[in-house]
Amino acid sequence: MTSTPLIPLFDPSRQFEEVEDEVLEAVGRVLRSGRYILGQEVAFFEEELASWLGVRYAVGVASGTDALVIALRACGVGAGDEVITTPFSFAATATAVLLAGAVPVFADISLEDLNLDPDSIEGCLSERTRALLTVHIFGHPAPMPLLREFADVHDLVVVEDVAQAMGAEVDGRRAGAWGRAAAFSFYPTKNLGGFGDGGAVATDDPEVAEIARLLRNHGSCAPHFHRLLGYNSRLDEIQAAALRVKLKRLSGWNEERRRLAGLYREGLAPTSLRLPSEREGCLHCYGLFTVLLEGRDSLAAFLGERGIGTGIYYPRPLYANPVFKGRCRAGRCPRAEEACAKALSLPLYPGLREEEVDRICSAVREWEGLRRRAADLPTAKP
Ligand SMILES: Cc1ncc(COP(=O)(O)O)c(C=O)c1O
Repeated sequence: MTSTPLIPLFDPSRQFEEVEDEVLEAVGRVLRSGRYILGQEVAFFEEELASWLGVRYAVGVASGTDALVIALRACGVGAGDEVITTPFSFAATATAVLLAGAVPVFADISLEDLNLDPDSIEGCLSERTRALLTVHIFGHPAPMPLLREFADVHDLVVVEDVAQAMGAEVDGRRAGAWGRAAAFSFYPTKNLGGFGDGGAVATDDPEVAEIARLLRNHGSCAPHFHRLLGYNSRLDEIQAAALRVKLKRLSGWNEERRRLAGLYREGLAPTSLRLPSEREGCLHCYGLFTVLLEGRDSLAAFLGERGIGTGIYYPRPLYANPVFKGRCRAGRCPRAEEACAKALSLPLYPGLREEEVDRICSAVREWEGLRRRAADLPTAKP
């Protein structure tokens, strides 16, 4: 008897097969150079990233979390400030606000795209509000034109968390090119995944870029002269060299993600699952393929028994985590809570095979059929 092959939620090794020779060559070049920190690979990568994004500067740092903290601080966010953000994100979005010395204020999301709802942010304003930290969740860009307009009217800085959405666009402009600064993560499972941790701050503003450069390197602007309280948060040469190889292929890989998402749409059309939306004018880059449904835990268990990995992003709104207790401002966000109760992410990454998507979809349909029969409900959508 053959065992069912596992379809993991993520498998970055499949992507590696495609670039193995080039990555090994690039890494070897760095190893032979003897220059491992802040050398030319990081400098070239920063140039290539800025030009890919359509902004003037990119600053490589050690992680997406550091990119957020550094971006916020470089934009002048600090003690006494409040930052409006979403409770439906990875914790780093809001812990970065705390680490920058400011207070996160959580506004509710829209259930259409799971991003901040522009209508819910007005009620979060106070005289301390300094910034709007938008996340492009799961690869669907936030409604940047509306959020920018709101920020302009209220004189707020916009910082973008692009960790899950490298390659997303709104009205032909890339996510990360809308705010005063943007934070990218190169965690291995991201759209542009490295071979370890890494991140970058991007901006059009020379002052923000300069401060970010100081902050990532001990606040130092000349050897042993420290102007700011900074960090050791540099992107390694090895990571930069490998990321340069992968950046060239990012658009193709994102196209593959979109094609796989299309297959899911077909395969899951007969089910009652709420599939990811694509708002008009938006290019979704499917950092994750996340559906909403009643009975999420039951489906996750059913798929797990069939060797199909799934993930729950996110089981609770950020304000329900102890770390934020007494350190954030939040009313209840009912739509974020609903998303937390219903969201399930399915495997979607370059290298995932069509027949694997078919298998996942037919397992989901089987689960729904069984559930409907158990509840004595009609079996198919009209
Ligand atoms: C939305 C979001 N922000 C920030 C981060 C933090 O990035 P890193 O893991 O590179 O620190 C992540 C990582 O998962 C993320 O998904």
